[in-house]
Amino acid sequence: MTTSVSIHPVDHGFAGEVSNVDLTQPLTPEEVAAIEAGMDRHAVLVFRDQNITDEQQISFSLHFGEIEDSAGGNVTRGSQERLDYRLNDLSNLDADHNPLARDDRRRHFNLGNHLWHSDSSYRAIPATYSLLSARLIPAEGSNTEFADMRAAWDALDNATRTEVEELICEHSLIYSRGLLGFSEFTDDELALMKPVRQSLVRTHPVSGRRSLYLSSPAGTIVGRPLAEARLFLMDLTEFATQRRFVCVHQWRQHDLVMWDNRQTMHRARPYDEIQVRDMRRTTIAGEAQTADQGGKLEGTAKRG
Ligand code: OGA
Ligand code: MN
Repeated sequence: MTTSVSIHPVDHGFAGEVSNVDLTQPLTPEEVAAIEAGMDRHAVLVFRDQNITDEQQISFSLHFGEIEDSAGGNVTRGSQERLDYRLNDLSNLDADHNPLARDDRRRHFNLGNHLWHSDSSYRAIPATYSLLSARLIPAEGSNTEFADMRAAWDALDNATRTEVEELICEHSLIYSRGLLGFSEFTDDELALMKPVRQSLVRTHPVSGRRSLYLSSPAGTIVGRPLAEARLFLMDLTEFATQRRFVCVHQWRQHDLVMWDNRQTMHRARPYDEIQVRDMRRTTIAGEAQTADQGGKLEGTAKRG
Protein backbone atom coordinates (compact mmCIF):
# COMPACT_ATOMS: atom_id res chain seq x y z
CA MET A 1 0.00 0.00 0.00
CA THR A 2 1.34 3.44 -0.83
CA THR A 3 0.99 6.17 1.72
CA SER A 4 -0.85 9.40 1.05
CA VAL A 5 0.97 11.25 3.82
CA SER A 6 2.16 14.56 2.43
CA ILE A 7 4.50 17.13 3.93
CA HIS A 8 4.55 20.79 2.90
CA PRO A 9 7.54 22.90 3.87
CA VAL A 10 6.67 25.97 5.98
CA ASP A 11 8.86 28.66 7.57
CA HIS A 12 11.34 28.81 4.67
CA GLY A 13 11.65 25.04 4.64
CA PHE A 14 12.68 24.62 8.30
CA ALA A 15 9.39 23.09 9.51
CA GLY A 16 6.94 20.89 7.62
CA GLU A 17 3.15 20.61 7.85
CA VAL A 18 1.85 17.07 7.53
CA SER A 19 -1.47 16.18 5.97
CA ASN A 20 -3.46 13.04 5.19
CA VAL A 21 -2.66 11.20 8.37
CA ASP A 22 -4.96 10.35 11.28
CA LEU A 23 -3.11 9.95 14.57
CA THR A 24 -6.07 8.28 16.26
CA GLN A 25 -5.42 5.23 14.04
CA PRO A 26 -2.49 2.80 13.91
CA LEU A 27 -0.05 3.83 11.18
CA THR A 28 1.21 1.68 8.33
CA PRO A 29 4.99 1.14 8.00
CA GLU A 30 4.87 3.40 4.92
CA GLU A 31 3.27 6.20 6.90
CA VAL A 32 5.85 5.86 9.67
CA ALA A 33 8.66 5.93 7.08
CA ALA A 34 7.22 9.06 5.46
CA ILE A 35 7.05 10.83 8.84
CA GLU A 36 10.59 9.75 9.72
CA ALA A 37 11.88 11.02 6.39
CA GLY A 38 10.06 14.30 7.09
CA MET A 39 11.72 14.52 10.49
CA ASP A 40 15.17 13.85 9.01
CA ARG A 41 14.63 16.70 6.59
CA HIS A 42 12.69 19.30 8.59
CA ALA A 43 13.31 18.46 12.26
CA VAL A 44 9.93 20.06 13.14
CA LEU A 45 6.61 18.65 11.88
CA VAL A 46 3.15 20.07 12.53
CA PHE A 47 0.05 17.85 12.49
CA ARG A 48 -3.23 19.82 12.58
CA ASP A 49 -6.65 18.72 13.86
CA GLN A 50 -5.50 15.65 15.80
CA ASN A 51 -8.00 15.24 18.61
CA ILE A 52 -6.17 12.43 20.39
CA THR A 53 -6.34 10.73 23.77
CA ASP A 54 -3.30 9.99 25.93
CA GLU A 55 -3.39 6.35 24.78
CA GLN A 56 -3.47 7.38 21.13
CA GLN A 57 -0.57 9.78 21.69
CA ILE A 58 1.40 6.97 23.33
CA SER A 59 0.60 4.51 20.50
CA PHE A 60 1.61 7.05 17.86
CA SER A 61 4.84 7.83 19.71
CA LEU A 62 5.80 4.16 20.02
CA HIS A 63 6.22 4.01 16.24
CA PHE A 64 9.42 6.03 16.71
CA GLY A 65 11.09 4.23 19.61
CA GLU A 66 10.71 3.74 23.35
CA ILE A 67 9.00 6.40 25.43
CA GLU A 68 11.18 8.09 28.00
CA ASP A 69 10.02 8.01 31.62
CA SER A 70 9.21 11.59 32.61
CA ALA A 71 10.74 11.17 36.11
CA GLY A 72 13.45 13.65 36.99
CA GLY A 73 12.27 16.36 34.62
CA ASN A 74 10.49 18.58 37.13
CA VAL A 75 9.79 19.07 40.83
CA THR A 76 6.22 17.74 40.72
CA ARG A 77 6.03 14.52 42.73
CA GLY A 78 3.71 11.61 43.41
CA SER A 79 0.11 12.60 44.05
CA GLN A 80 0.77 16.06 42.58
CA GLU A 81 1.18 14.47 39.16
CA ARG A 82 -1.70 14.94 36.75
CA LEU A 83 -0.56 12.55 34.01
CA ASP A 84 0.76 9.05 33.38
CA TYR A 85 4.55 8.64 33.81
CA ARG A 86 4.99 8.42 30.04
CA LEU A 87 3.59 11.92 29.58
CA ASN A 88 5.34 15.16 30.45
CA ASP A 89 2.98 17.81 31.71
CA LEU A 90 3.52 21.14 29.91
CA SER A 91 0.33 22.62 31.32
CA ASN A 92 -0.16 25.27 33.98
CA LEU A 93 -2.43 22.90 35.93
CA ASP A 94 -2.39 21.01 39.21
CA ALA A 95 -3.78 17.47 39.64
CA ASP A 96 -7.30 18.94 40.07
CA HIS A 97 -7.03 20.77 36.75
CA ASN A 98 -6.74 24.22 38.38
CA PRO A 99 -4.09 26.72 37.27
CA LEU A 100 -1.09 26.73 39.62
CA ALA A 101 -0.85 29.76 41.88
CA ARG A 102 1.59 32.47 40.89
CA ASP A 103 3.87 31.67 43.82
CA ASP A 104 3.75 27.87 43.37
CA ARG A 105 7.23 26.32 43.34
CA ARG A 106 6.27 23.86 40.58
CA ARG A 107 5.28 26.79 38.36
CA HIS A 108 8.57 28.57 39.02
CA PHE A 109 10.49 25.45 38.06
CA ASN A 110 8.38 24.91 34.92
CA LEU A 111 9.07 28.49 33.79
CA GLY A 112 12.49 27.10 32.86
CA ASN A 113 10.79 25.87 29.66
CA HIS A 114 10.84 29.50 28.52
CA LEU A 115 14.63 29.27 28.16
CA TRP A 116 16.02 27.88 24.88
CA HIS A 117 16.61 24.17 25.36
CA SER A 118 16.67 20.67 23.89
CA ASP A 119 14.56 18.16 25.84
CA SER A 120 16.36 15.77 28.19
CA SER A 121 19.82 17.20 27.52
CA TYR A 122 20.23 16.73 31.29
CA ARG A 123 19.97 12.93 30.86
CA ALA A 124 23.11 10.91 30.07
CA ILE A 125 21.24 9.44 27.11
CA PRO A 126 19.19 12.34 25.77
CA ALA A 127 15.95 12.17 23.81
CA THR A 128 15.50 12.01 20.06
CA TYR A 129 11.95 13.22 19.31
CA SER A 130 9.41 15.10 21.40
CA LEU A 131 5.70 15.07 20.54
CA LEU A 132 3.61 17.84 22.07
CA SER A 133 -0.17 17.72 21.86
CA ALA A 134 -2.34 20.79 22.47
CA ARG A 135 -5.48 19.65 24.27
CA LEU A 136 -6.61 23.10 25.48
CA ILE A 137 -4.94 26.39 24.73
CA PRO A 138 -5.30 29.96 25.96
CA ALA A 139 -6.92 32.53 23.67
CA GLU A 140 -3.62 34.25 22.91
CA GLY A 141 0.13 33.87 23.35
CA SER A 142 1.76 30.61 24.43
CA ASN A 143 3.60 30.14 21.14
CA THR A 144 6.44 27.67 20.98
CA GLU A 145 9.54 28.79 19.12
CA PHE A 146 12.06 26.48 17.43
CA ALA A 147 15.64 27.25 16.47
CA ASP A 148 17.46 25.26 13.79
CA MET A 149 20.81 24.14 15.19
CA ARG A 150 21.91 22.77 11.79
CA ALA A 151 21.50 26.19 10.20
CA ALA A 152 23.36 27.70 13.16
CA TRP A 153 26.24 25.26 12.65
CA ASP A 154 26.28 25.98 8.89
CA ALA A 155 26.57 29.72 9.62
CA LEU A 156 29.53 29.43 12.02
CA ASP A 157 32.95 30.59 10.88
CA ASN A 158 35.66 27.97 10.52
CA ALA A 159 37.63 29.04 13.56
CA THR A 160 34.57 28.67 15.83
CA ARG A 161 33.69 25.32 14.26
CA THR A 162 37.17 24.03 15.01
CA GLU A 163 36.95 25.37 18.55
CA VAL A 164 33.56 23.85 19.42
CA GLU A 165 34.09 20.52 17.70
CA GLU A 166 35.99 18.97 20.58
CA LEU A 167 34.09 20.56 23.45
CA ILE A 168 32.10 18.67 26.06
CA CYS A 169 29.55 20.48 28.25
CA GLU A 170 28.00 19.48 31.53
CA HIS A 171 24.21 19.78 31.64
CA SER A 172 21.92 19.89 34.66
CA LEU A 173 18.50 21.29 35.53
CA ILE A 174 20.27 22.87 38.48
CA TYR A 175 22.12 25.11 36.01
CA SER A 176 19.12 26.08 33.87
CA ARG A 177 16.88 26.82 36.86
CA GLY A 178 19.77 28.68 38.47
CA LEU A 179 19.60 31.14 35.58
CA LEU A 180 16.13 32.09 36.83
CA GLY A 181 17.21 32.37 40.45
CA PHE A 182 15.67 29.02 41.35
CA SER A 183 18.28 27.51 43.63
CA GLU A 184 16.58 25.66 46.48
CA PHE A 185 16.54 21.94 45.84
CA THR A 186 15.94 19.02 48.18
CA ASP A 187 18.65 16.36 48.52
CA ASP A 188 16.55 13.99 46.40
CA GLU A 189 16.24 16.60 43.67
CA LEU A 190 19.97 17.31 43.75
CA ALA A 191 20.64 13.59 43.37
CA LEU A 192 18.28 13.35 40.37
CA MET A 193 19.79 16.44 38.77
CA LYS A 194 23.46 15.47 38.80
CA PRO A 195 25.27 16.98 35.79
CA VAL A 196 25.81 14.80 32.71
CA ARG A 197 28.21 15.28 29.82
CA GLN A 198 27.19 16.11 26.26
CA SER A 199 29.16 16.93 23.12
CA LEU A 200 28.65 20.45 21.88
CA VAL A 201 28.44 19.29 18.26
CA ARG A 202 26.32 16.44 16.93
CA THR A 203 26.01 14.68 13.59
CA HIS A 204 22.62 13.50 12.38
CA PRO A 205 22.74 9.72 11.77
CA VAL A 206 20.80 9.86 8.48
CA SER A 207 21.47 13.22 6.85
CA GLY A 208 25.02 13.54 8.18
CA ARG A 209 24.32 17.21 8.93
CA ARG A 210 26.12 18.67 11.89
CA SER A 211 24.40 20.77 14.53
CA LEU A 212 25.21 22.73 17.66
CA TYR A 213 24.01 20.87 20.74
CA LEU A 214 23.12 23.76 22.99
CA SER A 215 20.51 23.75 25.76
CA SER A 216 19.81 25.87 28.85
CA PRO A 217 21.02 23.08 31.21
CA ALA A 218 24.54 23.40 29.68
CA GLY A 219 26.36 25.11 32.52
CA THR A 220 30.03 24.19 32.24
CA ILE A 221 32.56 23.21 29.59
CA VAL A 222 34.96 20.49 30.65
CA GLY A 223 38.44 21.95 31.10
CA ARG A 224 37.42 25.62 30.99
CA PRO A 225 37.08 28.17 33.77
CA LEU A 226 33.41 28.53 34.71
CA ALA A 227 32.92 32.23 33.86
CA GLU A 228 34.61 31.75 30.50
CA ALA A 229 32.47 28.69 29.73
CA ARG A 230 29.23 30.44 30.65
CA LEU A 231 30.02 33.48 28.49
CA PHE A 232 31.02 31.27 25.58
CA LEU A 233 27.74 29.31 25.82
CA MET A 234 25.71 32.52 26.13
CA ASP A 235 27.37 33.95 23.02
CA LEU A 236 26.84 30.75 21.04
CA THR A 237 23.18 30.59 22.12
CA GLU A 238 22.65 34.22 21.10
CA PHE A 239 24.19 33.45 17.72
CA ALA A 240 22.21 30.23 17.23
CA THR A 241 18.82 31.75 18.08
CA GLN A 242 18.89 34.72 15.70
CA ARG A 243 15.49 35.23 14.08
CA ARG A 244 16.75 33.85 10.77
CA PHE A 245 17.17 30.42 12.38
CA VAL A 246 13.84 30.49 14.26
CA CYS A 247 10.29 29.46 13.39
CA VAL A 248 7.31 30.30 15.58
CA HIS A 249 4.48 27.85 16.13
CA GLN A 250 1.13 29.47 16.92
CA TRP A 251 -0.93 26.77 18.52
CA ARG A 252 -4.42 25.74 17.50
CA GLN A 253 -6.33 23.30 19.65
CA HIS A 254 -5.57 19.68 18.66
CA ASP A 255 -2.26 20.48 16.99
CA LEU A 256 0.50 17.97 17.57
CA VAL A 257 4.03 19.18 16.97
CA MET A 258 6.92 16.75 16.75
CA TRP A 259 10.54 17.89 16.83
CA ASP A 260 14.00 16.39 16.79
CA ASN A 261 15.93 17.41 19.90
CA ARG A 262 19.19 16.40 18.23
CA GLN A 263 18.84 19.17 15.65
CA THR A 264 16.80 21.94 17.28
CA MET A 265 16.20 23.96 20.41
CA HIS A 266 12.82 25.31 21.47
CA ARG A 267 11.25 27.54 24.09
CA ALA A 268 7.78 28.39 25.41
CA ARG A 269 6.48 31.97 25.23
CA PRO A 270 4.29 33.76 27.80
CA TYR A 271 0.49 33.78 28.05
CA ASP A 272 -2.22 34.72 30.50
CA GLU A 273 -1.84 31.95 33.09
CA ILE A 274 -5.33 32.49 34.49
CA GLN A 275 -6.45 30.61 31.40
CA VAL A 276 -6.00 26.87 31.03
CA ARG A 277 -3.15 25.57 28.89
CA ASP A 278 -3.27 21.79 28.74
CA MET A 279 -0.32 20.49 26.71
CA ARG A 280 1.04 16.94 26.97
CA ARG A 281 4.34 15.64 25.70
CA THR A 282 5.65 12.19 24.94
CA THR A 283 9.40 11.92 24.47
CA ILE A 284 11.30 9.29 22.51
CA ALA A 285 14.34 7.89 24.31
CA GLY A 286 17.69 8.09 22.57
CA GLU A 287 19.96 5.07 22.33
CA ALA A 288 23.43 6.40 23.00
CA GLN A 289 25.38 8.95 24.99
CA THR A 290 26.82 11.89 23.06
CA ALA A 291 29.90 11.91 25.31
CA ASP A 292 31.71 9.71 27.75
CA GLN A 293 30.46 10.44 31.27
CA GLY A 294 34.03 10.72 32.58
CA GLY A 295 33.62 7.91 35.08
CA LYS A 296 30.66 9.64 36.72
CA LEU A 297 27.48 7.87 37.63
CA GLU A 298 24.91 7.95 34.87
CA GLY A 299 22.48 10.80 35.40
CA THR A 300 19.53 8.95 33.90
CA ALA A 301 16.69 9.24 36.37
CA LYS A 302 14.63 6.20 37.18
CA ARG A 303 11.37 6.21 39.04
CA GLY A 304 11.20 5.26 42.64
C1 OGA B 1 8.26 20.95 25.74
C2 OGA B 1 8.39 22.41 25.84
C3 OGA B 1 7.29 24.46 25.24
C4 OGA B 1 5.89 24.94 25.34
O1 OGA B 1 7.16 20.47 25.47
O2 OGA B 1 9.27 20.27 25.90
O3 OGA B 1 9.43 22.92 26.16
O4 OGA B 1 5.57 25.92 24.66
N1 OGA B 1 7.30 23.09 25.48
O5 OGA B 1 5.14 24.34 26.11
MN1 MN C 1 11.00 21.34 26.14
